[in-house]
Amino acid sequence: MPRKAASKKRDVIVTGNWKMYKTIGEAKQFIENLAAQIQESQVKICLAVPFTALFPAAQLTKHLNTSIEIGAQNMNDATEGAFTGEIAAKMLKDAGASFVIVGHSERRHLFHETSAFINRKVKRALKDGLTPLVCVGETLEERKAGRTEEVLERQLTESLEGVDLSLVQIGYEPVWAIGTGVVATPSEAELAHLFCRKVLEKVGGKKEGSVPPILYGGSVKSENAKELIAQSAVDGFLVGGASLEPKSFYEIIQIAGTKVL
Ligand code: PGA
Repeated sequence: MPRKAASKKRDVIVTGNWKMYKTIGEAKQFIENLAAQIQESQVKICLAVPFTALFPAAQLTKHLNTSIEIGAQNMNDATEGAFTGEIAAKMLKDAGASFVIVGHSERRHLFHETSAFINRKVKRALKDGLTPLVCVGETLEERKAGRTEEVLERQLTESLEGVDLSLVQIGYEPVWAIGTGVVATPSEAELAHLFCRKVLEKVGGKKEGSVPPILYGGSVKSENAKELIAQSAVDGFLVGGASLEPKSFYEIIQIAGTKVL
C-alpha cells in the first residue's frame, strides 16, 4: 500500500483487529454483510483476521469484488523452519493477506516481544510482500511518569531501524486504552501522533512521503470516532472490540469517511 505523493490527500484507513475471535463461518458472514454496505466508501478498509479465516476471507473478498483488504495479526521473522506453532510471512501472503499487524501491545506485553524482534518481522514482512502495520504505545505507568515520548521514540526507532517508511503503516495504541473503554482524548491522540510524525521524519530522513499513515487505536467506538478523526495527525483507526460487529464497524468507517470528502 504505497503512500500517495505529499501534495495529494492522505489515505484514511480503518483496520479491524479481530484478535482471537471468529470462526470461518462467522468471518464470512461478517464480510458479506460489510461488503454490501461499503460500496461507495472512500475509506481504505482492512480486516486483520485469525489465521484460520485468512484464506476463506481473502477468497470471499475476491469473489465479492470488494476493496476490503485481508491481513494477519502476527508472524514470525524467519522465512521458514522448525518453529512449532509459528507462521511465516510468505504463508500469510500465499493465503491472501496483504498486510500484517506487527508489535501489537498484546504481543509486546503478553508474549514479551522486543522492538528488535519486531524490527526483524517488519523487514521480513516487506521482503515477502506484506505491508506491516507497526504498533507502538505507552503503558499507563509510563504516561503517568511523563515517559510517553521517550517510549514512543524508542519503540519507533528500534522497530523501524533500516526500514523504508513509505512501505509501512503505524498504529499508535496507548496500552491503557486498549480494550478498557478508556479512550485517549482527541488532544492526547493528536499530540502523540504529532510526536510520532516528528520521530518518523527523523527516522525516515525527511524524504518526501516518508511519514507513513498513523492510525489511532484503543477503545475506538462510533461515539468517540468523530472527534478523534477530526485531529490533523490522525489518519484512521485500528479498531478491536467495535470491529466485531458489522454495524459498529461500519459506523466508524462512515465517520472516518468524512475526513476523505
Ligand atoms: P480495542 O482494541 O478497540 O478493543 O480497544 C484495539 C486494538 O487492540 O487494536
